[in-house]
Amino acid sequence: MRSMAWWWIGLVVVAVLSGGGAVEGEDEDGVTYDGRSLIINGQRKILFSGSIHYPRSTPQMWPSLIAKAKEGGVDVIQTYVFWNLHEPQPGQYDFGGRNDLVKFIKEIQAQGLYACLRIGPFIESEWNYGGFPFWLHDVPGIVYRTDNEPFKFYMQNFTTKIVNLMKSEGLYASQGGPIILSQIENEYQNVEAAFHEKGPVYVQWAAKMAVDLETGVPWVMCKQADAPDPVINTCNGMRCGETFGGPNSPNKPAMWTEDWTSFYQVYGGEPYIRSAQDLAYHATLFIAKNRGCYINYYMYHGGTNFGRTSSAYVITSYYDQAPLDEYGLLRQPKWGHLKELHSAIKNCSATLLEGVQTNFSIGQFQQAYVFEEANGGGCVAFLVNNDTTHNAIVQFRNNSFELLPKSISILPDCQNVIFNTAKVNTVANERITKSSKMFNADDSWEQFKDVIPNFLDTTLQSNTLLEQMNTTKDTSDYLWYTFSFQPNSSCTNPVLQIESFAHVAHFYFNNKFVEVGHGNHDTKNFSMDIPISLIDGVNNVSILSVLVGLPDSGAFMESKFAGLTKVGIQCSETELYEFTNYTWGYQVGLVGEELQIFEEENLNKVDWTKIDQDSTNQTLTWYKNVFDAPTGDDPIALDLSTMGKGEVWVNGQSIGRYWISFHTPKGNPSQTLYHVPRSFLKPSGNLLVILEELNGDPLHISLQTISVSDFDSKITITSFSNIS
Ligand SMILES: *[C@@H]1O[C@H](CO)[C@@H](O)[C@H](O)[C@H]1NC(C)=O
Ligand SMILES: *[C@@H]1O[C@H](CO)[C@@H](O)[C@H](O)[C@H]1NC(C)=O
Ligand SMILES: *[C@@H]1O[C@H](CO)[C@@H](O)[C@H](O)[C@H]1NC(C)=O
Ligand SMILES: *[C@@H]1O[C@H](CO)[C@@H](O)[C@H](O)[C@H]1NC(C)=O
Ligand SMILES: *[C@@H]1O[C@H](CO)[C@@H](O)[C@H](O)[C@H]1NC(C)=O
Ligand SMILES: *[C@@H]1O[C@H](CO)[C@@H](O)[C@H](O)[C@H]1NC(C)=O
Ligand SMILES: *[C@@H]1O[C@H](CO)[C@@H](O)[C@H](O)[C@H]1NC(C)=O
Ligand SMILES: *[C@@H]1O[C@H](CO)[C@@H](O)[C@H](O)[C@H]1NC(C)=O
Ligand SMILES: *[C@@H]1O[C@H](CO)[C@@H](O)[C@H](O)[C@H]1NC(C)=O
Ligand SMILES: *[C@@H]1O[C@H](CO)[C@@H](O)[C@H](O)[C@H]1NC(C)=O
Ligand SMILES: *[C@@H]1O[C@H](CO)[C@@H](O)[C@H](O)[C@H]1NC(C)=O
Repeated sequence: MRSMAWWWIGLVVVAVLSGGGAVEGEDEDGVTYDGRSLIINGQRKILFSGSIHYPRSTPQMWPSLIAKAKEGGVDVIQTYVFWNLHEPQPGQYDFGGRNDLVKFIKEIQAQGLYACLRIGPFIESEWNYGGFPFWLHDVPGIVYRTDNEPFKFYMQNFTTKIVNLMKSEGLYASQGGPIILSQIENEYQNVEAAFHEKGPVYVQWAAKMAVDLETGVPWVMCKQADAPDPVINTCNGMRCGETFGGPNSPNKPAMWTEDWTSFYQVYGGEPYIRSAQDLAYHATLFIAKNRGCYINYYMYHGGTNFGRTSSAYVITSYYDQAPLDEYGLLRQPKWGHLKELHSAIKNCSATLLEGVQTNFSIGQFQQAYVFEEANGGGCVAFLVNNDTTHNAIVQFRNNSFELLPKSISILPDCQNVIFNTAKVNTVANERITKSSKMFNADDSWEQFKDVIPNFLDTTLQSNTLLEQMNTTKDTSDYLWYTFSFQPNSSCTNPVLQIESFAHVAHFYFNNKFVEVGHGNHDTKNFSMDIPISLIDGVNNVSILSVLVGLPDSGAFMESKFAGLTKVGIQCSETELYEFTNYTWGYQVGLVGEELQIFEEENLNKVDWTKIDQDSTNQTLTWYKNVFDAPTGDDPIALDLSTMGKGEVWVNGQSIGRYWISFHTPKGNPSQTLYHVPRSFLKPSGNLLVILEELNGDPLHISLQTISVSDFDSKITITSFSNIS
């Protein structure tokens, strides 16, 4: 970057000569920046961006999601790159299907939008292991995200792979492609202190490594106040207009990489609702106060955490409250209100980019931000009312304006209000679910009860409790911990005690289900005290420990612990059988998983039986059925309200984990509808396979079509009349 400390002078000259837009001396191709904005092919822009993550929908959905974002006034599609999808084994790559990053970027390009590629390759993102492939864990001597040679080797290797792939397809703006920005690392400042002096060394290395890849477009580091030049530090959060410390150099523009439209939801948690007004207020404030030039909505479309891709305790539906809901339908008024905002800002972006910013108080809680061009050029004003309860009547340029509580009015000519963040003109809509098929014919179901292993059935044995992630290598959520023992004293009121740092424990005693326990997103461990009845002779204990996703954040993720940590039988107050360091037998995964009985071709590997009406209280059971696709184009979901916990496959593809039995404090399941993408289906004979861990009832699930209520989709920009 050449120094642009005096960019303003150059700009005035150019503005006079060319009437605005182009910047003298900048290359016409590629992306540069200065203290005011990104400069794309010589043009300054104020950009609205929306996060859409390609693997959280399907290639069939991408064109319409991107088109709806464009229609909503979004200029840039932002996505993370998902390392563990692309490099499942070292040096073995997968860029097909939902992982077809090139196709996704080309679709963005085809629709005339820009792309922001957040390579990470640590991404967090409520994604399994923060995007890291689990094999990294077994690289000798590795410590993630610090000045550690093995880690840096693999991080550089993958980052290079992605950059080279993008270059080979000509996808950077410097090559005429749509990618205008890339990101390296991700919110590293949150963990940096844990690495002491190695943290800043790693930041410097990561920045240099990225810049040396010569993409021809800028790199950003989000939430990294000391991002080294020329990497731009950006803000993430809900109120960056109030919280951002600003770019760390006067030559860098103010950018907001994650404006949270909602918040990820965990099992046991309610959805987080952020209003259209609040989103619009804070986005506008960032432009008015911070001279923001880039705002990315995280998420614009959240989508679905298919398979086992969500991180610890995160539900399968992702940011369903975003402007486009999980199914890609408009969520109103959010989508429409933001569209109006984008159009109002675009109406005056030339003056915002070229004018001089001033601010002054227009009341106790009211502030004006004015952008004015020299020599009687354009003038744009933002009138901010930060009073959350009262309207305010303010004077501005000899006119009187009434400002709604907690709002910003936009005056593209410093006279007329064309948009107020608190005045929503878009009509709200509602989701409509229509039942399309019930599965209540019990003779249509077949079941297979998975096998409960005892100690003698296991081949992997150890004299201690093994860490779960390192034992399963993330090939399954499930790890059986088993042991056998013969009581050697009279134990009158035995209580089995379990402490676990995994997420769920199903306790089986002498082949019978006894009890289930679980933790939650915010506490790492839980314990269970379960009264049992010992028998004479050998007793078998089998505990199925379940992870609902690996962690996705924190320092030293490579040494995180999951699984059982303590097991004992309290016989009396003074007598405890301690089994923590006893001889344990292990089985990774379930039999049905091992045989992949969710695939059509493997169905005959087990004996399916008619559904057993008398034992609907059974646990750990696979169910299968077939169904025809509902007619029409509406998105489809399974309503799993009557199930407990497990995973669902449709035609062999996992639509994700479900967990109905974990209720929120208000007593609701966190998610009952589970998206079945249309592209997973054939017109008829679709195979549905459900793995139910608890005692769910498959006879009362249903297939639903999803739509939204009709509303007047015409967005009108209403002018406010001045009260003068
Ligand atoms: C990345 O590592 C693989 C082996 O895992 C190797 O084949 C490849 O050449 C490496 N690429 C780079 C750019 O270092
Ligand atoms: C801005 O909005 C005004 C009033 O709606 C309109 O007359 C004008 O053409 C718009 N200008 C641009 C650049 O969009
Ligand atoms: C107003 O502008 C001054 C000078 O540029 C700046 O120091 C101050 O922080 C601004 N005040 C607000 C409320 O933005
Ligand atoms: C608005 O008021 C809140 C609460 O007093 C304060 O935290 C915030 O910084 C204010 N925002 C602006 C833009 O003045
Ligand atoms: C406001 O009114 C005063 C007195 O009538 C006048 O001198 C001034 O120029 C006006 N200001 C603007 C911005 O129109
Ligand atoms: C992880 O498991 C491997 C065997 O797969 C073992 O050699 C290694 O010691 C284990 N590492 C940890 C940290 O437990
Ligand atoms: C009883 O059995 C447990 C577990 O098998 C063993 O650890 C303990 O030492 C035994 N106690 C006695 C008194 O034999
Ligand atoms: C304990 O497990 C062994 C090995 O599978 C089995 O033979 C035995 O019957 C089991 N005992 C009980 C009480 O279930
Ligand atoms: C969780 O672990 C901590 C220490 O690691 C311990 O103090 C606490 O009692 C445990 N909580 C439960 C519910 O087991
Ligand atoms: C189990 O063995 C480990 C390693 O020898 C030891 O640190 C730990 O204290 C033992 N735990 C119990 C409960 O005896
Ligand atoms: C079903 O199992 C649950 C434990 O999951 C138990 O509380 C309940 O009593 C059982 N119901 C029947 C009818 O057996």
